[in-house]
Order: sequence, then structure tokens, then C-alpha cells
Amino acid sequence: MSSEMSTPTRHAHARRFLWISLAGFGFVLLGIALLALTNRAVIWSSSDRFCGTTCHSMTWANTAYQQSPHYRNSVGVRASCGECHIPYDAEHATAIEYVKLLLFKGERGAKDFWFEANRAMATEEEWEKRRPALSHSFENYLTRHNYITCRGCHSLESFGGPRSPMKLVIHGGMVKANNYNCLACHTNIGHTYSAPSPKVSGWYTAEQAASGEKLFEHSCSSCHGRKLEGAAGPALSGVTWQQRFGGAKLLTVWGEIKGPMAAYAGTSFTTQESLDILAFLLQQNGLPAGKQPLADTRELSDTLPEK
Ligand code: HEC
Ligand code: HEC
Ligand code: HEC
Ligand code: HEC
Repeated sequence: MSSEMSTPTRHAHARRFLWISLAGFGFVLLGIALLALTNRAVIWSSSDRFCGTTCHSMTWANTAYQQSPHYRNSVGVRASCGECHIPYDAEHATAIEYVKLLLFKGERGAKDFWFEANRAMATEEEWEKRRPALSHSFENYLTRHNYITCRGCHSLESFGGPRSPMKLVIHGGMVKANNYNCLACHTNIGHTYSAPSPKVSGWYTAEQAASGEKLFEHSCSSCHGRKLEGAAGPALSGVTWQQRFGGAKLLTVWGEIKGPMAAYAGTSFTTQESLDILAFLLQQNGLPAGKQPLADTRELSDTLPEK
């Protein structure tokens, strides 16, 4: 019986089928349009223009970013806000990553909106008050995610080369241990709040240099000479030092000591020991001692005087 439907009923069925298909098709189209819009919004809201200028509260972070080596550098490649701050790439994300990206942006957006709406950072003073906490929170975020955004651009495995084995030694250890903390050594890397200026006084303490001298005599003088005049290894004072390290960051010299030179000497140094040796080298090159010890790797962004 049921198979023998009357003609009008069959027509009604066909019409209904047509409507449902049309509606379904419409929904699919709408879905595609929404997705495309979402994607544009995601990409647009990750752009430098959006991140740096839409919110008044980002004014200072943006200015400091423009003074960093990631804004302007010798290779002419610029890292955008999103490339460091957002761990997923909207244009090459898997479906799951995309959902995570949307959640990430939703959470961030809500927070940023809250700050902006409450005018919590309307003046530079208020911004300065909140900056340490914001910095800290993003540093923690990067550490928890093993500096994935940094490593996306910098392949640590390919560092170094005959002219700077130091870079390979220093970074290779992190790769092996799969444990990264870029900001421990590289400060001011995304945002440079004040141009690093050469210090005038107080690079290290006299005690530090004295303890560095002992270490140097024991581990380094055989190759570099007791008075740093050079032997199998280059001189570490005078013109040679100046040409090699004038204008360089302390980080560069420290990297040599902690990395390949410790290996040359067949030993390893704690951070403190390697800083003491660095203090001794600074002393021998005429930089004055002061009250503050060169204690923290964060000071290693300071640059040595050109002359
Ligand atoms: C090269 C990577 C990099 C780029 C590009 C970058 N940042 Fe950052 N940002 C960082 C790091 C790292 C920190 C953590 C604090 C620090 O070490 O300076 C940070 C911190 C911040 C903070 C917290 C406050 C502070 O200044 O410490 C804000 C806000 C911020 N960034 C916004 C932005 C905006 C907006 C842009 C683009 C205009 C941007 N960032 C571009 C790496 C970057
Ligand atoms: C979009 C790619 C990109 C991202 C993301 C990125 N960098 Fe860079 N980074 C660069 C480029 C390009 C340079 C300039 C290279 C040069 O000058 O030889 C650079 C330079 C550097 C330098 C040398 C700076 C100097 O003073 O000469 C360090 C250190 C560095 N980046 C660390 C980081 C850290 C840490 C992060 C994560 C917070 C990061 N980078 C994220 C592309 C990137
Ligand atoms: C233990 C300290 C230390 C840590 C941690 C560290 N670096 Fe470095 N990095 C150095 C030293 C030292 C240099 C050489 C600096 C120089 O010559 O000015 C350097 C140089 C670099 C350069 C410039 C390379 C070039 O060829 O000019 C980049 C880029 C860089 N590091 C990225 C990173 C990234 C990304 C991380 C985190 C995954 C990281 N570093 C963690 C000590 C460190
Ligand atoms: C086995 C000999 C030897 C020992 C031990 C040694 N060095 Fe070196 N050092 C060299 C040589 C050779 C170079 C030249 C660069 C290279 O071959 O890597 C050098 C380069 C350096 C540089 C870079 C200078 C430049 O012009 O490139 C510094 C800084 C340095 N050594 C410090 C030390 C310190 C500090 C110690 C003790 C912890 C030490 N070295 C132990 C042989 C040695």
C-alpha cells in the first residue's frame, strides 16, 4: 500500500525534498562565507597594524618593538607581532590547531578588550606600572611552550660555523636537552625599551675580577698568555681585543668563554665562574670596577665601548 502513493503526495514529497536541499545548500554557503570571514578576521587581527595601533594601550609596546632588531635588521626580514606572540599560524594550521587558535584569540581578545574598555593603560605611567606583570606573563607563556615561535624562525641546529663555534655549542646544548629559555640570555629582543648604552662605570666588582684571574691562570693562560698577550690563542687585550669585541655585546665574549673556551680548557664553568673570567678580561681592558657584581646574564645585553 505505502509504495503506491498518490500523485499529489509524491509531488509534495518532491517539493519538500527540494526545499530541504536548497536550505541545506544555503547553510553550507553561509558556513563557507562565515569561515572565510572568520579567517580574514583571524589574519587581520594578527597583523601588525591591528596589534600595534588598534588599541591605545599597545602604543608603548609598539614603539619599543620598532626599536628592536626584529623590526629593522641587516637581512631585511621583519618579525610581526603575531609571529612571536601567537603560537599558531592561521594560514597553515590543521583543523585542531585552528580551533586552538580561535580559543587563544578569543581569550586574548577578551583580556585586551577589558584593558582597553577600562582605560586601564591610558597613560604611559599606568602602562609602566603594568608592564612588568605583562612581560612576565608572556615570558612564562613562551617558556611553557618551549619558545616555539622563536624556534619557528631560528633553527638552532644550524647555528655556528667555522667563525663562531660558540653559537653552536651554546645553542646545541638546549636542542639536546629539548629545554629552551631564550630570554635568559637575549633580553630586549622583541621590544627594546631603551637603547643599550655603553656603561661608564661599574661593570663588575674587584673581587669578581680577582677570582676570575685565578681561573684564567689555571685554565686559559697556557694558550692566551699570563698577561693576555696571546700565544697559541689570540691576544685578549689591546688592539686585538678592540677589533674583535669593540661595540659587541658582553654576551658575545661570555659565549666564547662559557662555550668553546671551556671545552678547549677541558673543563666546564658555572655561570658565576664564567662571569668572573669575563670580569677579569674587562678589567684587563681598562673597564672600571664598581659596586654591582656582573652577576646576572641579563646584563649581558650591554655593549662594549667602540674605542
Ligand atoms: C621578536 C618577537 C616579538 C615581536 C615581533 C613582538 N613581540 Fe611583544 N614581546 C616579545 C617578548 C619576548 C616579550 C616578553 C617581554 C620581553 O622580554 O620584552 C614581549 C612582550 C610584549 C608585551 C608585554 C609588555 C612588554 O612590553 O613586555 C606586549 C603588550 C607585547 N609584547 C605586544 C606586542 C605587539 C603589539 C607587537 C607588534 C607591534 C609585538 N609585541 C611584537 C616578543 C615579541
Ligand atoms: C618571523 C621570524 C622571526 C621570529 C618569530 C623571531 N625571530 Fe629572531 N630574528 C629574525 C630575523 C630576520 C633576525 C635578524 C637576523 C640578522 O640580523 O642576521 C633575527 C634576529 C635575532 C637575534 C639576533 C639579534 C641581534 O641583536 O643581532 C636573536 C638573538 C633572536 N632573533 C632571537 C629571537 C627570539 C628569542 C625570538 C622569540 C621571542 C625570535 N628571535 C623570534 C627572525 C625572527
Ligand atoms: C645561554 C645563553 C643563551 C641562550 C639561552 C640562548 N642564546 Fe642565542 N646566543 C647566545 C650567544 C652568546 C650568542 C652570540 C651573541 C653575539 O655574538 O652577539 C647568541 C646568538 C643568537 C642569535 C644570532 C645568531 C647569529 O648568527 O648572529 C640568534 C638568532 C639566537 N641566539 C637565538 C636564540 C634563540 C631562538 C634561543 C632560544 C631557543 C637562544 N638564542 C637562547 C646565547 C644564548
Ligand atoms: C687550547 C688553547 C686554548 C685554551 C685553553 C683557551 N683558548 Fe681561548 N682561544 C684559543 C684559540 C685558538 C682561539 C681562536 C678562535 C678559535 O680557534 O676558536 C681562542 C679564542 C678565544 C676568544 C675569542 C677571541 C677572538 O679574537 O676570537 C676568547 C675571548 C678566548 N679565547 C678566551 C679564553 C678563555 C677565557 C679561556 C679559558 C677559559 C680560553 N680562551 C682557553 C685557544 C685557547
